[in-house]
Amino acid sequence: MDLLRYDFGYEWPWTWGHMIAAVCFTALAAGLVRVRWRRAGALCAALALWAAAGAVIVNLVLGFSLPIRLPTERFLASVEGRVLDAGAGSGRSALMVLAARPRATVTALDIFGAEYGIGGNGPERLMANARAAGADPRLEVRVGDMRAMPFEPRTFDGAVSAFAIDHLSRADVEKTFAEMARVLKPGGQFLLLVINQDAWVRTALPFFVHHGYFGGRASPDRWRSGLERAGFTMLEQGTQPGTLYFLVENATR
Ligand SMILES: C[S@@+](CC[C@H](N)C(=O)[O-])C[C@H]1O[C@@H](n2cnc3c(N)ncnc32)[C@H](O)[C@@H]1O
Repeated sequence: MDLLRYDFGYEWPWTWGHMIAAVCFTALAAGLVRVRWRRAGALCAALALWAAAGAVIVNLVLGFSLPIRLPTERFLASVEGRVLDAGAGSGRSALMVLAARPRATVTALDIFGAEYGIGGNGPERLMANARAAGADPRLEVRVGDMRAMPFEPRTFDGAVSAFAIDHLSRADVEKTFAEMARVLKPGGQFLLLVINQDAWVRTALPFFVHHGYFGGRASPDRWRSGLERAGFTMLEQGTQPGTLYFLVENATR
């Protein structure tokens, strides 16, 4: 089963927290009803239902334990080439590209320093996940900073970055977009995925406080104008659960 195939390293409150809460609230509700505290029992039953819904959303809709679904078939329509994944972490976004574009290779770049909710963030787990997908021969892992990428200009045919650039400050977002334009070939595509605090996220994670310059509440306009200032042309913008995405093309020559 795919839910158990990978280890993306998200700390247990993200993946198991809702299930544990559902079991606890259910037991509490049953106990309260038994001693005839019906109102308190009903409240706990409602919380148990919310927690069960949260478990389904986090694991099956937002898919914290699954590779990300490619949001647009327009990305790398040629289906081959060298693709950069900036802020690759434990591999959900790298596996998205490796699975959807079986003739492409991926260079996964991550600073692997801070935790970002991924326990023991490191290259070994990323490579193990690629092995579990049968795609490790097409993956290269590099340790480095996306604000000053260790690559020559015009190295990549395409690039993705998922839920990583939205951790950065405004100045660092600008640096990273400029770096992305530098290392992509002219005409190369960049697929940016950021958190979207939509109804799925607000229901499952009502206490989720996002970080970074954009604070998780940035309007799509702010992302778009940042990308355009760095020399990208907009091809497509859209959403999938918990996600806002932008597909752009490198217009710099
Ligand atoms: C929430 S994780 C997302 C990982 C993966 N893209 C995914 O969707 O599962 C964010 C990742 O960004 C990485 N990161 C944060 N700042 C970075 C930087 N300046 N350079 C490279 N990676 C960075 C973190 O180490 C972390 O692995």
